[in-house]
Amino acid sequence: MKARIAVLPGDGIGPEVTAAAVSVLRDAAARGGHEFEFSEHAIGGCAIDAHGDPLPAETLIVCKQADAVLLGAVGGPRWSDPKAKVRPEQGLLRLRAELGVYANLRPVRVHPKLAALSPLKNERLTGVDLLFVRELTGGAYFGAKTRTADVATDETKYTTQEVERVARRAFALARGRGRRVTSVDKANVLETSRLWRETVQRVAHEFPDVALEHQLVDSMAMLLLTRPAAYDVIVTENLFGDILTDEAAALAGSLGLLPSASLGDGKVGLYEPIHGSAPDIAGRGVANPLGAILSAAMLLRHSLGLADEAAAIEAAVDRVLDAGVSTRDLGGDAGTREATAAVLAALNERA
Ligand code: NAI
Ligand code: MG
Repeated sequence: MKARIAVLPGDGIGPEVTAAAVSVLRDAAARGGHEFEFSEHAIGGCAIDAHGDPLPAETLIVCKQADAVLLGAVGGPRWSDPKAKVRPEQGLLRLRAELGVYANLRPVRVHPKLAALSPLKNERLTGVDLLFVRELTGGAYFGAKTRTADVATDETKYTTQEVERVARRAFALARGRGRRVTSVDKANVLETSRLWRETVQRVAHEFPDVALEHQLVDSMAMLLLTRPAAYDVIVTENLFGDILTDEAAALAGSLGLLPSASLGDGKVGLYEPIHGSAPDIAGRGVANPLGAILSAAMLLRHSLGLADEAAAIEAAVDRVLDAGVSTRDLGGDAGTREATAAVLAALNERA
């Protein structure tokens, strides 16, 4: 198959980890006889420096025309003055909104070798295999904001249509996994949450083979620590999802391992590791590339329909971790290139 992939390396370790992900995609293309065309474009702080705009028009046009977008990370101390008019993350927020990617998928699995890095007791981590589906383009982050000297407001608004589409996505994904959805809200207090719960409940009738339960967000925050293996797909609104996904990420031992996909109804998906630009280690060749590599696997699965190739990459990452290859964030001393080479070697051993 032919595919156009827009690569947005961004800032800090972004270029290092996206290069690793691209090499794994090139390998998948070579072995499967696919033609992937890659092009690199600016986003974030480096785009502010070069074009005065964290999402230059050229970048946005190419992303909209691509089959998929692979992103590194944006931001860093050079652009973090809170009073600055343009900030790197504005570029990313706008890109997500422009692409209409309303469903943010974050799988969290705990590799047995890494359980010791988790703050939880090992026995609680056995079998943790979560898929968060976070609503990404609505809620408090996109609502109207007001500010006077002493009063500030952030509007939270959801429509049934916004809830329906993300809920459908979560139920559909649950069909390919454990057939269980947990919907998280604060329906005892918030009106938006009552609409959320009613709407998810209605969508559930379209998926009689998937079990649905509701949890309040405060209780879910606790359950993620006490019974993380008890959940399968967890669907929630933007702000709750932001917080719970970071909490769940801590279970896995390092931010550097975790991928994400952001999907809408259009053809373009956006794929990025969940970590930031890690300015403290940028440019030193020590960043963990596995989150970016696993994001590339999600790209193959969700945007290009190459599920077998995706599974092969995930299995190769598992074998690399089994073999004890680990970057510094995982307690080892492998560099970005060594870890990437180990994944490529594991892929080609089985080929
Ligand atoms: P961060 O994720 O960049 O780093 C947190 C800690 O984890 C650091 O000690 C870092 O060295 C380590 N780390 C992160 N990724 C790693 C990897 N792949 N391998 C090894 N170690 C890794 O989060 P932080 O420090 O809060 O933010 C730094 C910058 O990144 C800020 O400007 C922030 O705004 C931006 N950011 C961007 C995101 C994005 O582009 N989606 C997401 C989160 C933060
Ligand atoms: Mg976050």
